[in-house]
Amino acid sequence: MAKERTLAIIKPDAVARGLHGDILSRIHEAGFQIVAIESRRLTKEEAEGFYAVHRGKPFFGDLTSFMSSGKVVILALEADGAISRWRELMGATDPAKAAPNTLRKLYGTSIQNNCTHGSDAPETAAFELSYFFSGRQLI
Ligand code: CDP
Ligand code: MG
Repeated sequence: MAKERTLAIIKPDAVARGLHGDILSRIHEAGFQIVAIESRRLTKEEAEGFYAVHRGKPFFGDLTSFMSSGKVVILALEADGAISRWRELMGATDPAKAAPNTLRKLYGTSIQNNCTHGSDAPETAAFELSYFFSGRQLI
């Protein structure tokens, strides 16, 4: 598998409960390199731009309010097959349907408050990485 980068976010529900330390440990144990990391609160507009692909869906307003409700941890992760491997570690979107021991199974509390985000394809990873990090931060 080729070296790849993906954009991960530890969402406000997980940061508010102090779970980001454990999630970062899981990222390390799984063999990802953390290329860039930032902890801050998103504006509603930033969340709307990030999730533009979902604009118009019934959950868009609540999702972008949730994503701007408190601090997140934004990560650029690198590994062989990083995009699919990070999605595997997160588990299914709905925590109720996520596989045992995945982050969303362990820490997600609803389909919205599912503790983590991950890019779903090389094109979205490229967009999402550049949405939050400059070229200099990604060296
Ligand atoms: O995050 P993922 O790629 O697994 O799922 P998505 O379908 O791209 O949806 C993006 C995010 O919207 C999810 O992670 C959930 O936080 C939220 N969502 C929601 O609140 N209600 C839904 N029915 C579907 C997604
Ligand atoms: Mg998605």
